[in-house]
Amino acid sequence: MTTDIVSDKKIFERRESQVRSYCRSFDTVFTKAQGSTLHDESGASYTDFLSGCSSLNYGHNDPDMKAALIDHITGDGIAHALDMYTGPKAAFLETFERLVLAPRGMDHKIMMTGPTGTNAVEAAIKLARKVTGRTNVISFTNGFHGMTLGALSLTGNAGKRGGAGVPLNGVTHLPYEGSLGDDVDTLSLIETMLENGSSGIDAPAAFILELVQGEGGLNAASRTWVEGIARLARKHGAKLIIDDIQAGLGRAGDFFSFDNMDVKPDMITLAKSLSGFGLPFALTLIRPELDVWKPAEHNGTFRGNTHAFVTAKVALEKFWSDDAFKNDIAEKSAVLTKSLQHIADTIPGARLKGRGMMQGVDVGNGDLAAAICAEAFLRGLVIETSGANDEVVKVLAPLTTPMDQFRQGLGILTEAAQTCVQTKIAAE
Ligand SMILES: Cc1ncc(COP(=O)(O)O)c(C=O)c1O
Repeated sequence: MTTDIVSDKKIFERRESQVRSYCRSFDTVFTKAQGSTLHDESGASYTDFLSGCSSLNYGHNDPDMKAALIDHITGDGIAHALDMYTGPKAAFLETFERLVLAPRGMDHKIMMTGPTGTNAVEAAIKLARKVTGRTNVISFTNGFHGMTLGALSLTGNAGKRGGAGVPLNGVTHLPYEGSLGDDVDTLSLIETMLENGSSGIDAPAAFILELVQGEGGLNAASRTWVEGIARLARKHGAKLIIDDIQAGLGRAGDFFSFDNMDVKPDMITLAKSLSGFGLPFALTLIRPELDVWKPAEHNGTFRGNTHAFVTAKVALEKFWSDDAFKNDIAEKSAVLTKSLQHIADTIPGARLKGRGMMQGVDVGNGDLAAAICAEAFLRGLVIETSGANDEVVKVLAPLTTPMDQFRQGLGILTEAAQTCVQTKIAAE
């Protein structure tokens, strides 16, 4: 590992847009990464509890995906093919069908969208509107679905919405489970509003929701609530879209966040860890009777990333051929819950959020959460916040993190939280 500091960080401040964000929390220049470890150019190493916001669920540079990609490139395999038929696309589709769709009895079609999550969301709501002939889409408080205009209109966060520059129309935001306090049954409230012809809510084309709200503070909906929303969608002729961009692909415990629930989404959006290797790749799963697109009606140059097809196939075969990975996630999730509960117990008013490997601690305010993450970074841990006021310290470790390193990272987080809480108490 080199100890020479080669980059002049001023180039970022001089030339990169103010819109940059994560780099402001992790002020170093990263050079290499393997598994759950990041290295910077000073030679320091960090345990990664951010995973590219859940885009690296299988860690950095998985050796099998890397080898397959290198083979593909050195063999002059296709790098870009628009949406033409290629061997890697056939292999990915066959593997996805065999390991993901068929075992679940899902007959969904696979729509290759533009490469990032928001593109998959745009495709889903556009199709729901086209199929139903309705405009209104119901999304939920604290939901986050992306930054392009359609997806942004579904997103709750005022700061993000503020950047739109045009009215964000065609969406009704309704309360997510628990968002009005533990005493309010939001499902029955929503049901009542939808049944009331004078509620002002136009007949919905779709409901779109995350089962664990990734950016919105790790609010995890219960099975009863999700099944209730699915029932309401059916009853009101609306399509059910599950946005599994962050919670899917193992993050919430299984391949889909709704596995083990009695819901059959009309559409599912996937992106982030889909390639397995951190490459841009998104898709929308569509129930076959909804696949009414005319050829090229929803087009795009980068739909289906051939390099991502190669790595995604390896990821599916390596991690989703049997239950071993899922069981490992369950074991790690239990360790995570215990450790975070310990942290929450030391902070007055703090509480645990989320489920699976998508958990965190709501520490009550954004300043404390930011201080804990900053302190953790000084100690060699990369971790971020989430929530309406960034009040949740959120653990998004690679699902493949070796147990020793996982416990070590949680140890750093615990120390960081203790230090910040003591500093806060001393200052009061
Ligand atoms: C649930 C969810 N949907 C959509 C998106 C948007 O994905 P992308 O940033 O790849 O456009 C995100 C990103 O964080 C997300 O968490």
